[in-house]
Amino acid sequence: MTAHTTRVDVGIVGGGPAGLMTALLLKRRGISAAVIETRTKDTIHHTQRAGILEAATVSMLVDAEVGSRVLTEGHEHEGTVLSFDGEQHRIDFQALVGRSVWLYPQNEVFFDLANAWEREGGEIHWAVTDTQVHGIETTSPRISFTDAHAQARSIEADLIIGTDGSRSMCRRLIPEEVRTDHFISYPFAWFGILCEAPPTAPELIYANSELGFALISQRNETVQRMYFQCDPDTDPDSWSEDAIFDHIQQVLGTEGGVQLKRGPIIDKTVLPFRSYVCDPLSHGRLALAGDAGHTVPPTGAKGLNLAFADVRVLIPCVEEFITELRADAPGHEGEAAETPESLRRYSRTALDRVWKAQNFSYWATNLLHRQPDENPFTHRRRRGEFDAITGSVHGQAYFADSYTGWSD
Ligand code: DHB
Repeated sequence: MTAHTTRVDVGIVGGGPAGLMTALLLKRRGISAAVIETRTKDTIHHTQRAGILEAATVSMLVDAEVGSRVLTEGHEHEGTVLSFDGEQHRIDFQALVGRSVWLYPQNEVFFDLANAWEREGGEIHWAVTDTQVHGIETTSPRISFTDAHAQARSIEADLIIGTDGSRSMCRRLIPEEVRTDHFISYPFAWFGILCEAPPTAPELIYANSELGFALISQRNETVQRMYFQCDPDTDPDSWSEDAIFDHIQQVLGTEGGVQLKRGPIIDKTVLPFRSYVCDPLSHGRLALAGDAGHTVPPTGAKGLNLAFADVRVLIPCVEEFITELRADAPGHEGEAAETPESLRRYSRTALDRVWKAQNFSYWATNLLHRQPDENPFTHRRRRGEFDAITGSVHGQAYFADSYTGWSD
């Protein structure tokens, strides 16, 4: 069977929020894009992910005019609560740095963007298999794959963007001699639940105690999201509903602390923890964005926000590259291609913010989690660190500035 071939300016591998936002913003600038994705639209829409959006992420959704429901169905949070051994401190984002965050689940961000791309007639192939990317070190890179109807297809482009998530196949195309993989793992994970209950408190609560970490987040008036620290090998079914809620209540404190609102648990998952950065984020005619280029532990919900920060930097660089290409005399198919300076600049600029976010996610993780075999010194020292953050406006402002997202 011969492959059905389409030709676009940019081929995008990965139809999550980073890939779709990239496709939509390129289209606004007259640059054509086609997207492929291994999962179905329904699977991505129903996979639980983090729920906190930085103000700059919300602005991108609003400015792109994609019909996002973030302002109507999301909730603005002007602060958050940090709790240590049952003692609570509110960090007032608005008073400290004049920015808020929004609670609006990432899977709904995805759904808004996917609907917008489809409504606008953008090319997208869900549930593809056999994906391969060819010729990223040449002037004619190409994606080949089998679509959901078993049709062999090919997308020819001037540039390939890899937004194919934390298990990215695209990043492995950057040769090992030019790629550094920065990686650390953590000796714990998060046990995440969704439960049918009203919100426990008006804002999120990040809590630490001698039992470790817990986070009380929200979804809407009737469904809530919560997490607690667990061993990475935990079987989600080994915890009963009562044991889960009793444990989270103990982390929050049982005397005078917040009273957890309980209800039937409708979803349980164990989330791995790791920090990863791929350097560089571009090579030849390939650029990586979002989790494909870097993964953060979930504390602080930086993942999607960092992906959108990549996209903000990437779009003008791609526009510059495509404009230069259109001005040049057409070259020969398959000629060797250097990494364009615009894409090198994308990598350098994006990585500066990536490392700031890596630092914050790592720092907040260590501030709020218990190490497996820690001694009383470590817990007491952590309390000192916590007091240094909550006890002065300077410490609070550091947290607020990082959490709500540094201005570009
Ligand atoms: C959520 C997840 C996070 O990792 C976080 O820091 C805050 C909120 C959430 O799923 O709601």
